[in-house]
Amino acid sequence: MRYDVVTIFPEYLEPLRLSLLGKAQESGLVQLNLHNLRDFAFDRHKTVDDTPYGGGAGMVMKAEPWGLALDSILNSALSNQPAVTADAEPHDARPLLIVPSPAGKVFNQAKAYELAEQEHHIVFAPARYEGIDERVLNWAEDHFRVMPVSLGDYVLYGGEVAVMAMIEAVTRLIPGAMGNPESLDEESHTGGLLEYPVYTKPSVWREREVPAVLLSGNHAAIARWRRDQQIERTFARRFDMIETYPEDGWDKKDRKL
Ligand code: ADE
Repeated sequence: MRYDVVTIFPEYLEPLRLSLLGKAQESGLVQLNLHNLRDFAFDRHKTVDDTPYGGGAGMVMKAEPWGLALDSILNSALSNQPAVTADAEPHDARPLLIVPSPAGKVFNQAKAYELAEQEHHIVFAPARYEGIDERVLNWAEDHFRVMPVSLGDYVLYGGEVAVMAMIEAVTRLIPGAMGNPESLDEESHTGGLLEYPVYTKPSVWREREVPAVLLSGNHAAIARWRRDQQIERTFARRFDMIETYPEDGWDKKDRKL
């Protein structure tokens, strides 16, 4: 997977070089290119913003530097394209351009799986200030598949944190990028229920005991307890997920809630 991020704060994304994401880059599974938008602003002050036409609060990111930054990514992507064979399926070779915005569709685990499975080059355009001149997104439609994406129903200072969250969520689903791939199977938002609580040694801590069933060695009883915990938690914290849980997903022994 290749990621390109254009931002006025490339340092903001440097933590993506750490831990398992760093290892995925070292092994070549993932390539992360960070581009400073100011490198594409050619006036003396490297200006990337200006006042909005029509008036109003805040500043708007200028079209020219964004256009040049995206041109440069497109050029480097073209020179890296695999040769197309005559019998290849026709497909949309435009890279995906994700524009983080509270006005986008909300990102979730299903979208993360979709991106990990279907994409091989994702470009991120995180904005600061009031956003990017709309003509950039309009022009970009000809060269990218443009997707405005929100991290959730709240507003951040800028899109960088959203980019970091999406890169983490997608990369860990790429085969080979997960320390222990089995932990994907039972986690929240994979099977439609939240995950069960976990415990480790010591078995008693500040007078609190680990649930006895987990020390019993009875694997069927442990699996039942964990499933009950998942249902109970999801019921208490995310009733919306209970309401949309598929009818045929419940098993006979699921506790009637
Ligand atoms: N930029 C500012 N707020 C955002 C959000 N909620 N999601 C994505 N990008 C944003």
